[in-house]
Amino acid sequence: MEKDDSSVDYSDFLAKVPEGMFYRFPLLPVHGVPLMKPIVESWERIEKFQARPDDLLIATYPKAGTTWMQEIIDSVMNEGEVEKTKRAPTHVRSPFLEICSPPPVPSGIDLLEVTPSPRLVKTHLPYELVPETFWKEKCKTIYVARNAKDNAVSYYFFDVMNKTQPDPGTWDEYVLKFLKGDVAWGSWFQHVLSWWKAREKHDILYMFYEDMKEDPKREIRKVMKFLGKDLSEEAVEKIHQHTSFSAMKENPMANYSSIPGTVLDQTVSPFMRKGEVADWMNHFTASQNKIFDEEYQRQMKGSTLRFRNNI
Ligand code: A3P
Repeated sequence: MEKDDSSVDYSDFLAKVPEGMFYRFPLLPVHGVPLMKPIVESWERIEKFQARPDDLLIATYPKAGTTWMQEIIDSVMNEGEVEKTKRAPTHVRSPFLEICSPPPVPSGIDLLEVTPSPRLVKTHLPYELVPETFWKEKCKTIYVARNAKDNAVSYYFFDVMNKTQPDPGTWDEYVLKFLKGDVAWGSWFQHVLSWWKAREKHDILYMFYEDMKEDPKREIRKVMKFLGKDLSEEAVEKIHQHTSFSAMKENPMANYSSIPGTVLDQTVSPFMRKGEVADWMNHFTASQNKIFDEEYQRQMKGSTLRFRNNI
């Protein structure tokens, strides 16, 4: 019998964990990519993960719009019956493949193993680190990319409030760390570029946060087409409303309010922070912008991948 995934309540486990279990985990390299220590310690299990042919992978660099896309996909998979997405929080409905915490908190794989198919699997892994099984099973993948400057700002505020990732330091220090890829899940440049190349070989829909902001319904229809779903206009409108920033900010099943403040301290910065394109303009100084642009030119040279820093 298939198990109902709503019976797995990750937040319950989190609420019961002893104090001090979560701390700012150091980053250690896996094939040169810095990852949080508990992930590195479980790497063998992650690498050996068995995908199913009907798994759908949602891959992103952290803070590129993962949660937004997870909500869109779950709504599309439920044919626009958005009430069904309220069955459990995001991290239970769409488990995070590589995430690991000290026991008894279930890992992403523990949750995936009890999730009925078709599963929506989240990962932040760069293409090279994704378990081979996803490609052997020819799993469909949706990748979401966000312009580097907004991505960096969003990641900074997240690292301030996420008590399991290294302290980001000052914004000035963080800009340099981000450019060097000295943050969890490594370099933004390597991430977006490796996935851009991977789409030539695999069934990958490469999406942009800026496009989703510009015309959400157009982008929802792209996802529907990719998933082979032909939904009514009414269903598209429902999904559009349900996945708007304001609706998701108020939705306890999408705004990570079920994760205790010892892990995600939303009093410092909310998970649903701003949800805008070009917020970077409020944070970058002229000199940070110059350094960033120079490094950007250097690292993106020769690629056909183009981002919009404003819309
Ligand atoms: P900001 O910090 O710029 O506000 P991820 O889910 O990958 O962690 O990404 C989080 C970022 O996506 C945050 O960006 C968050 O506000 C934004 N976001 C989440 N839901 C959104 C939505 N429905 N519309 C626009 N942005 C959204």
